[in-house]
Amino acid sequence: MKQMQALITGATSGIGMAIAKELSKRGWSLILTGRNQEKLLELKEPLPVPVEIFPLDLSKENAPFQLYDFCKGKRVDLLVNNAGFGVFGKFTETDLQEELELLSLNVRALHILTKLFLRDFKKRNSGRILNVASSAGFLTGPLLSSYYASKNYVVRLTLAIAEELRHDKSRVIVSLLCPGPVDTNFNNRAGVQFRVKALSPEEVAREAVFGVLTGKLLIVPGLSIKLGLLASRLLPEQLLSRILYYVQAAKQTAIPKK
Ligand SMILES: NC(=O)c1ccc[n+]([C@@H]2O[C@H](COP(=O)([O-])OP(=O)(O)OC[C@H]3O[C@@H](n4cnc5c(N)ncnc54)[C@H](OP(=O)(O)O)[C@@H]3O)[C@@H](O)[C@H]2O)c1
Repeated sequence: MKQMQALITGATSGIGMAIAKELSKRGWSLILTGRNQEKLLELKEPLPVPVEIFPLDLSKENAPFQLYDFCKGKRVDLLVNNAGFGVFGKFTETDLQEELELLSLNVRALHILTKLFLRDFKKRNSGRILNVASSAGFLTGPLLSSYYASKNYVVRLTLAIAEELRHDKSRVIVSLLCPGPVDTNFNNRAGVQFRVKALSPEEVAREAVFGVLTGKLLIVPGLSIKLGLLASRLLPEQLLSRILYYVQAAKQTAIPKK
């Protein structure tokens, strides 16, 4: 059987690393990226499948194009757009430069990679894309405003593309992963701490890989998050924002950023 290959962004920790391990168990070869070369090498070492690494900062202007060029001539069967981070704080007080980096990574890089790979996938009428959004992608996020807004972009973009593909009777699969809290380095970078039980990245990766390989469009790991999202649709938007302000404020913590 032909060996399948996945490209995963943000593979140096958390959900991306867990997806890399999950796919390697299924015999997929991997192209892994992230900024931290040492971590990529550490991850590659014990994996029982062919792994190439390509360290780069995807928030830089040319980086998504460099990554696409690196993959030219290597067949990619699955693109996992996973790299992303959050910035916590009041919109008037958060650092503009950090938010521009967030938009470059969470929105711009994902947009460019989705477009470039999807064009190739459409031409050959095969291939899969897993875009990692968040349950935040269906909500308004006071105190994490740019992060929530970026994930809303990912949700709407991916759902729209999926409908276009369905309409064109394309065999290309696009899936959207929308987890709630997951126990990763995300909190440290955003400077917050979850007040509810988080899923492990391994649990999320198992559902995500199963979902994208079985052609599921919307993957929401965990029953409580599924129910929470359903319930949020019943509330008026402004009331929901008020509740979410307090939910986010409770995440504020004195832990230093790593
Ligand atoms: N944790 C949660 O609760 C949660 C919930 C819903 C959705 N998500 C989403 O899941 C995805 C993965 O996050 P995670 O929770 O696994 O967090 P994480 O452990 O912090 O992983 C983030 C990954 O993104 C990479 N990354 C960050 N900045 C980058 C940059 N400028 N260029 C290239 N790569 C970069 C990091 O690698 P380097 O540091 O090596 O660059 C790391 O591999 C994100 O899109 C996040 O929004 C997370």
